[in-house]
Amino acid sequence: MYKISIIGSGTVGGAIGKVFTKYGYHVIFYDLDQGRLKELASRGYKVAETLEEAVLNTDISFICVPTPSNNGSPQKSPIFGIRKSKISDQIDRSYLDTALSGVLNVLTSKDGYHTIVIKSTILPGIVEGFDGGDCGICLNPEFLRSETPEEDFENQPVIIGSIDERAAEILKEFYEDFRRRTEKNFKIFVTDTKTAAMIKYVSNCLLATKISLFNEVAEVCKKIGVDPRIVVDNIVTDRYSTIEQYRRDFLSLGFQDECLPKDLDAFLSFCKDLGYKPELLSAVKEVNERIKRKR
Ligand SMILES: NC(=O)c1ccc[n+]([C@@H]2O[C@H](COP(=O)([O-])OP(=O)(O)OC[C@H]3O[C@@H](n4cnc5c(N)ncnc54)[C@H](O)[C@@H]3O)[C@@H](O)[C@H]2O)c1
Repeated sequence: MYKISIIGSGTVGGAIGKVFTKYGYHVIFYDLDQGRLKELASRGYKVAETLEEAVLNTDISFICVPTPSNNGSPQKSPIFGIRKSKISDQIDRSYLDTALSGVLNVLTSKDGYHTIVIKSTILPGIVEGFDGGDCGICLNPEFLRSETPEEDFENQPVIIGSIDERAAEILKEFYEDFRRRTEKNFKIFVTDTKTAAMIKYVSNCLLATKISLFNEVAEVCKKIGVDPRIVVDNIVTDRYSTIEQYRRDFLSLGFQDECLPKDLDAFLSFCKDLGYKPELLSAVKEVNERIKRKR
């Protein structure tokens, strides 16, 4: 059975590590924030004091560090393992650079193959061409929601973006075993990293579009005396069965969780750099900003 380390034990890392532990895997959590580790340790989870301890005692490391908007600032951090390109400047790469360079450094003193899995949300074109020697890297974008992270994680399709065939094969084998243990029937889809990254961004763009669409439609509904919540309740179908997110985000403050605004911004800059202006998504952002100003 593969042993797992979680590098970055916040919303995503904390949730996936807890779910893997629940299904019997050997999981070690690591984070720069000692408070997070103390909390996990106090609840019986295994934590590592150092990155070395986490990586050297496991076979697969899931990197779950933040990738916030960069807001156009020049990046100070050195590039190690991540491709330097204009695209990689559209998100703040510093957390990922630090985590990835740290793991690669530790691996210089580890015998045997190691699989690095990037769970953080990154744009297409950042990790392609990575050659880690005796370790392989895959992209495995995450779709869970902060409100129901563990429940979402064990009920969603798995997308694996492969650069290194061996690493992708190991991760696929791991998730097949995980699926057997959960007795769920989720899909495991292996593709290239650019496609995997696009699936994640387009998924969030779709959520953002629906929320802005509902906010616009709500204004029309109000003009004709129709309750927009009833309209929305009867039309929503998507990856998440619940309509709670729409109930909260539309008719309240627009989309405002941590991921939708930053991922939409990153994707818009990404398109701009490709010489394309996505009119619909630009309007999605404008509508959301207008709604936020109004409330
Ligand atoms: N929160 C969500 O609902 C969600 C859903 C899907 C994808 N994502 C993506 O997953 C990634 C992580 O998001 P999150 O919400 O879990 O962030 P978070 O801020 O909750 O957790 C990140 C953790 O990483 C730690 N960290 C930062 N640098 C580190 C390093 N070098 N080594 C070890 N630990 C380090 C931080 O201390 C923090 O505890 C982001 O790319 C985000 O876009 C988030």
